[in-house]
This record gives sequence, structure tokens and C-alpha cells, in this order.
Amino acid sequence: MDNLTIKGGNPLNGTIRISGAKNSALKLMAAALLTDEPVELRNMPNLADSRFMARLLSTLGVDVYWPQNENVCRLSAAEITSSIAPYDLVRKMRATFNVLGPLLARMGHATVSLPGGCAIGARPVNFHLEAFEAMGADILIEQGYVKAAALRGLKGAVIDLPFPSVGATEHTMMAATLAQGVTTINNAAQEPEIVDIATMLKAMGAKIEGEGTSSIRIEGVEKLKGVTHSVMPDRIEAGTYAMAVAATGGNVLLEAAPAAEMTSLIEHLKAAGVKVSVENEGVRVIRNGSRLKPVDVDVQPHPGFATDLQAQFMALMTTADGTSTITENIFENRYLHAPELNRFGADIRVQGKVATIHGVETLKGAPVMATDLRASVSLVIAGLVAEGETVVNRIYHLDRGFEKLEEKLNACGASVVRGSE
Ligand code: EPZ
Repeated sequence: MDNLTIKGGNPLNGTIRISGAKNSALKLMAAALLTDEPVELRNMPNLADSRFMARLLSTLGVDVYWPQNENVCRLSAAEITSSIAPYDLVRKMRATFNVLGPLLARMGHATVSLPGGCAIGARPVNFHLEAFEAMGADILIEQGYVKAAALRGLKGAVIDLPFPSVGATEHTMMAATLAQGVTTINNAAQEPEIVDIATMLKAMGAKIEGEGTSSIRIEGVEKLKGVTHSVMPDRIEAGTYAMAVAATGGNVLLEAAPAAEMTSLIEHLKAAGVKVSVENEGVRVIRNGSRLKPVDVDVQPHPGFATDLQAQFMALMTTADGTSTITENIFENRYLHAPELNRFGADIRVQGKVATIHGVETLKGAPVMATDLRASVSLVIAGLVAEGETVVNRIYHLDRGFEKLEEKLNACGASVVRGSE
């Protein structure tokens, strides 16, 4: 199993190019199932997760052309040969569950394995299934599979989400593009990835209004056409590197970083004493000299502070000059990184959804274990700051969501080397 050895203490200086957003790309790929015409996705992040989604789509009969290391992926679902997404492919990555809606909308039936829980929480899919039921689908759960049928097509409906779930909003929106009549999603999630997906769907001929607000209206059309779409830049990747620079000190331009989608993080970084400026090419992050100020974080759905940046902010606050708190309101078990950060000498206590971080002057390198994607990268940030050597084990999590992580960091002066146990 691969690991990363990090020699800490180097400031970061230079330019980091931000890749396409994983959490948009995975759903855009699933949306290719909605049309029998070719879909070309540009600025695709080359990640274990996006490659995995390509594998699932191939098993459904989608023609996938995506040469290794390239950032353009061509998908053609001219003929869907199977509407079954098997357990082995769905259990490894939750986003694969999002093929259910497009398959149901296009084929009238689909059988998709339940994704199951994961390290950060139970993550049920009841909102997704309730939405499809409201749209007229018959849903049966049998032996760990969701069997969905809408043989005469999905019908528009009013969906009141109990919580602004990102996945349920995206999934319902995609399926509703081919339903008969109007679907309204109330209490919809407002994450920028939803706007990216709606933008592509509209270019395919879908009729969508209100994406990016809490109420989305979709008027179903009979058919969608092919499209060429460029995946939005990854605000979570950009935010992660912003925090790496804030932690180590230095001056880095995050090229193509979507500043407008990073407002909450930028405010928190500024409050901590980090200089953040928006330039034509992206976002510049600078920190020189003095210790960071402690800043409290209340994790909320967008436009609030993103849960996918919570672990990294915790790593940043471990060396702040004082005490800060984080309240995680999205997932019930997303503090797995806290005990690992304490191995560096950090002082973090977790009680329910609140973590209290007493800043220490320095971190010391340690062997640590990655537990999930964002937790893993928080350990990398701690390793970049810590004195001496850190070994981050089980980094397959990192490869799921960060393209060329070592390359990007080392180009700015870090010392991160991949090895194996
Ligand atoms: C997406 O997950 C992202 N994943 C997550 O990123 C991200 O943390 C999350 O949105 C929140 O921003 C992808 O886009 C692939 P939710 P998703 O539905 O859609 C509960 C990463 O690191 N809920 O908004 O699964 C759920 O348990 C990943 O890249 C239900 O109860 O998140 C959670 O507590 C991790 N029933 C809350 O809602 C449902 O049917 C929000 O989940 C659906 C969700």
C-alpha cells in the first residue's frame, strides 16, 4: 500500500494549477446516460474516483474514450446495454449511486446496489428514493439492491427535501429533465457543483431554473442532446492548497481557483491573519511571519463553510495562537482526523459535533493513518508544517480526490515522496 513521506518545515512558494471539480465531474459523467448523443467533458480531473465512474458507465454499455493522463473524456450512451449497477462497483464509491436517476429516466427501470454507510457517517439515500417515488417510480429494496421502475416514465412532482442534500438535489434534477411535466425541488442544496451540472444539462436542452437557489424548477423535455462541457474548477482542492499555504507560510497563486465559490473560506482565512487576494488568474494566498489567530468555524451547507474543508481547517488551527472551535453540522462522524492530528502533538478534544482546538506552538512529525479523503489531506497539511518526518499511510484515499498532489506541492518547495509499506 502506498504512503507519503513528508519532510516538514518548508514554506510554499509558486503557482498551483487547480484541477476540475471531482464532485461535479462524477455527476456530469452520470448525466451522459441521459442522452444517446456524445458528451465531451473537458477539464476532467484524473482521479481514482472519476476513473472508477468511467468503469461503471462502461459496464452499463456507455462507450468511454478517456486516454490515461488526459483531461478530456468522451462518453457516448447511444445504447445502454444494462441498467444494473452491481454491488462491487457501487459500494466502493457513493457517487456511483447517481446513475440510478438517469437510468430510470432514460430506460424506465434500473437496479442499483445500495451504497451503504462510510467512515464519515451513515449517509442514507432515503431522500433520493422518496423523490423518485414522488415522481411515480415504484421502488423496491431487495437484497441490498434498489429496484426502481417507472415504465410509463417519471412524472413531475413537488419535492420538499427534509435537508438540502447535495446528492439528492443533483440526482432529482437530472432525472427530472426527462420527466413529464414540471418538478420543483424545495429546500434544494445550493452548492456550486449543482449550478455546473444544471449548466451542462441546459446546454443539452434541459429546461431548468433556480439552480444555485433553494428552489429549482425543472420542466421535463422529451430528449436531451449531446454537449461539450468544461468541468468547473475544484473549490475544495483550491481551498485545501490555500490552507496548506496558510499553514506553512509562503506565497502561492492558485491558478483557476473559483474565488466566488470560496467566500466563506476566504473570510475565515483572512480572520486568521492570512492575506488572500483575488487576481485575474485565480486566488493568491500569502502568509509571512506571525502566528495564525484562532477562528471558530460553523460548518453549514453552501454558502456556509464547507464540510469538505473542515478537516483541513482543523489542521490549520492546531498551531494558531489560542483556542478555536469547529462545529460539524453535516456529517455525524467527520472527526476521524482529530486523533491522528493529536499524534503530531496537536491538542484537539471532540465532544459530539464540536471540536475544540487549543493551538500549540509547533507540531512534530509522526506516522499517521489516512481515514477518508479530506481527513487524509489534513494530515498532509500537518506534515508540511511539522518539524521532522511524517509518514501518511493508506493514501489511496488521497488518490480518490487530489490530482498530482505531490507534484503540485513539490513544485512549490515541499518535500513529499511517495513510497510503499
Ligand atoms: C456530497 O455528498 C459530496 N460528495 C460530499 O463530498 C460532501 O461532503 C457533501 O455533498 C456535502 O457537501 C459528492 O458530491 C460525491 P449530502 P452527499 O446528501 O451528496 C444526509 C468528499 O469528500 N442525507 O448533502 O452524499 C447525509 O447523511 C465528499 O468529496 C440523508 O439523511 O451529501 C448527511 O448527513 C464526502 N438522506 C447530509 O444529509 C439522504 O438521502 C448531507 O449529505 C441524503 C443525505
